[in-house]
Amino acid sequence: MLEIRPVTKENWEALIDLKVRDDQKNFVASNLYSIAQSQFGDEFEGHWDLFAYGIYDGDTPVGFLMYGLNFAHPSQQAYIQRLMVDEKFQGKGYGRFGMQKMLEIFRADERVKEVSISYEPVNDVARKLYASLGFVETGRIIEDEVEAVLKLK
Ligand SMILES: CC(C)(COP(=O)(O)OP(=O)(O)OC[C@H]1O[C@@H](n2cnc3c(N)ncnc32)[C@H](O)[C@@H]1OP(=O)(O)O)[C@@H](O)C(=O)NCCC(=O)NCCS
Repeated sequence: MLEIRPVTKENWEALIDLKVRDDQKNFVASNLYSIAQSQFGDEFEGHWDLFAYGIYDGDTPVGFLMYGLNFAHPSQQAYIQRLMVDEKFQGKGYGRFGMQKMLEIFRADERVKEVSISYEPVNDVARKLYASLGFVETGRIIEDEVEAVLKLK
């Protein structure tokens, strides 16, 4: 069974062992960095509380995701900050599953009107995945990444 599970004191070490391919390292921070960052939140146009999860197939950790929430932000209240699937498990639907779970959480929260995401311009797999879920590029570049948004309400 596929599910996402919050990062806890029991599973964080298994999640930091998950790695992307060497040629993908520019696309995503390490899970070690992300889990550290999740303790403190992110400051970009206001404060974002961060929520980190492992993606699991049964009891096997296969990927990691993290999103931020900032209900004081005027346009986007949710921000997908990280998504990665370990190099051994890519191309099996886990990344799409992780995206769908995040969108389910946002759709169930009436405070979330719009979701944003950003990616390296050369990251075609990410761009196509997000576009297939309805994300539309805004033309804005954030820290050298292309921004795309999904309007939920
Ligand atoms: C991007 C990433 C999370 C996608 O996860 P994944 O589990 O490999 O992807 P999925 O199996 O769910 O596939 C999603 C789509 O991408 C396509 N895809 C996946 N890997 C691909 C590849 N190497 N080449 C071409 N297409 C690919 C799939 O065909 C699928 O499209 P479809 O549903 O239309 O058939 C994963 O490749 C990854 O961790 N990449 C490195 C880190 C990264 O780029 N993170 C995103 C930062 S913004």
